Amino acid sequence: MCGIVGYTGTEAAAPILLDGLSKLEYRGYDSAGIAVRNGTALAEVVKATGKLRNLAEKIDNGAALPGSCGIGHTRWATHGEPTKINAHPHVSGNATGSASGPVESDVVGVHNGIIENYEELRDKLTRNGYRFYSDTDTEILIKLVDYYYKKYKIGPIDAINRMMVRVRGSYALALMFRDYPGEIYAARKDSPMIIGVSEGAAYLASDVPALLKYTRQVYYIDNHQSVRILPGEAHFFDLNGDEVDMPLTEITWNAEAAEKDGFEHFMIKEIHEQPKAVRDTLNSMIKEGQIDLSGAGLTDEMLQKIRAIRIVACGSAWHVGMVSQYIMEDLAEIPVRAELASEFRYRKLLMDPDTLVLVISQSGETADSLAALRVAKEKGYATLAIVNVVGSTIAREADHVLYTVAGPEIAVATTKAYSAQLAAMYVLTVQAAKARGRISEEAYRGYLEELQALPEKIARTLEDKERIQWFAAKYANAHDIFFIGRGVDYAISLEGSLKMKEISYIHSEAYAAGEMKHGTISLVEDGTLVIGVLTQKELLEKTVSNMAECKARGAYLMGLTSYGNYSVEDSVNFTIYVPKADPHFIGSLAIVPLQLLGYYTSVARGLDVDQPRNLAKSVTVE
Ligand code: F6R
Repeated sequence: MCGIVGYTGTEAAAPILLDGLSKLEYRGYDSAGIAVRNGTALAEVVKATGKLRNLAEKIDNGAALPGSCGIGHTRWATHGEPTKINAHPHVSGNATGSASGPVESDVVGVHNGIIENYEELRDKLTRNGYRFYSDTDTEILIKLVDYYYKKYKIGPIDAINRMMVRVRGSYALALMFRDYPGEIYAARKDSPMIIGVSEGAAYLASDVPALLKYTRQVYYIDNHQSVRILPGEAHFFDLNGDEVDMPLTEITWNAEAAEKDGFEHFMIKEIHEQPKAVRDTLNSMIKEGQIDLSGAGLTDEMLQKIRAIRIVACGSAWHVGMVSQYIMEDLAEIPVRAELASEFRYRKLLMDPDTLVLVISQSGETADSLAALRVAKEKGYATLAIVNVVGSTIAREADHVLYTVAGPEIAVATTKAYSAQLAAMYVLTVQAAKARGRISEEAYRGYLEELQALPEKIARTLEDKERIQWFAAKYANAHDIFFIGRGVDYAISLEGSLKMKEISYIHSEAYAAGEMKHGTISLVEDGTLVIGVLTQKELLEKTVSNMAECKARGAYLMGLTSYGNYSVEDSVNFTIYVPKADPHFIGSLAIVPLQLLGYYTSVARGLDVDQPRNLAKSVTVE
């Protein structure tokens, strides 16, 4: 996790670094720090625990730290508690970890990632006279670069390359060397980092939103590459130290996409952006009334050849896989299994050689999903990724990529990216069903019409938000909430429950409705809230019966169904309706009230909606 930024140019660096970090705070927010150099003067390091605003206050929003070259970091603790000493930047000198002010060190750096062989490296460095002031693996990394820099005296790129050969783990690392004022050196392996350039300035950052205000011209740095940036220039090097050419890419997202735009939180803004995210994603794959997956290099022949699909993903992306499992098996008649990426890689994979491994990821950087992708590739399976962030590691390593077009997602709890992923999976399913001869031309056209109607129906679902806001205020003090459903409704319950617990901190569980009576119903007592997702007509009555079993034990029932299923009102205490839609795709509507419920509950409890405790958006540790 963690976010890193760097700037070198002619402007004051500190305000630019603070601004960049504010766009990356979703990646970690337990402490922050920056280091700035004013010409040839030593780097000044300032750190603060807690949110970024503590750091900003300390340096008068940057005014107190002159200089036009610097690096910054916002942390999500992995090695060592979130203290000031453990906050980045770290330095190569022996006793300056907590210093605010000029540092005597030769190397100053910030890091996102995890170093696996840190103990062995710390022993080696200790034998060579280095002392450690923090509990972080980052300090070891920086001291290792310093060690090679001084031992071989060839320069920063050589020292970084030697470090890369010696270290196991993941890193996006940005460094300033005392002997090279106005320059920043960086390297990456398995943690995201992009380099931006503009007239007279150069930037680096963990993610696009940090740069959007300054430039749209970016380079994606490869694994095991290093880069030297100086005002207006970026030079890339391979592990041998040879300079390599990298293509410049133009980012199409605009800066406003990463702003709150009048909404109180990013999450509610992103919930409202769902009609657009779904429309843009559908339009990127449906051209002139036909699905066109040629952008991802997917042909009908390939879809015909697939014998099974294994979807691997984490969290909400896995929930998309769970929905897809039901609809792909039903429409395309392909055996599908949705599996948690963190489990997939540690099992014997007894899969047919013609299995497609499909990785779903918003960030394209989730460590478990990336590791699963690599295992699948190593074993020779065809791989397809559904990814939101262009140029991310998963997108670059998968054989085929379908991009969702959700734009930057800032809130830690995903909403619009989840909906865009569902949309992409629907399109893939319908095309696979057609290619495999499982649906007629007429049914194909009918499904496309249904899909294209979804954005407007999501917008209509959002219009009912006041009722949900009211209900959330009423239940904001609940202790336990159960989300139950069958089939697609169960898969939607999983996501509804996660949305609730991750931002409201209320314990909630999603259960296949028929399973409650096999143990969990013993938790139901007077006032327990049970939310039934009831969109699947042929399963609805059964779930309503399971809800009645909970009501008989004191539960308060909320039913979520589509217009037309009015009999639900007779059995539950509170009903929410969504527009009618094809049952395969109606999950895209049913999830919206559940997202709103999680959101308004968190607001009613006065919590930090966009940055819930203990979480970070991009999970780059296993
Ligand atoms: C929950 C949430 C997470 C992510 C998960 C995977 O709201 O956002 O559960 O879905 O960490 O992240 P990506 O999609 O970036 O691989």
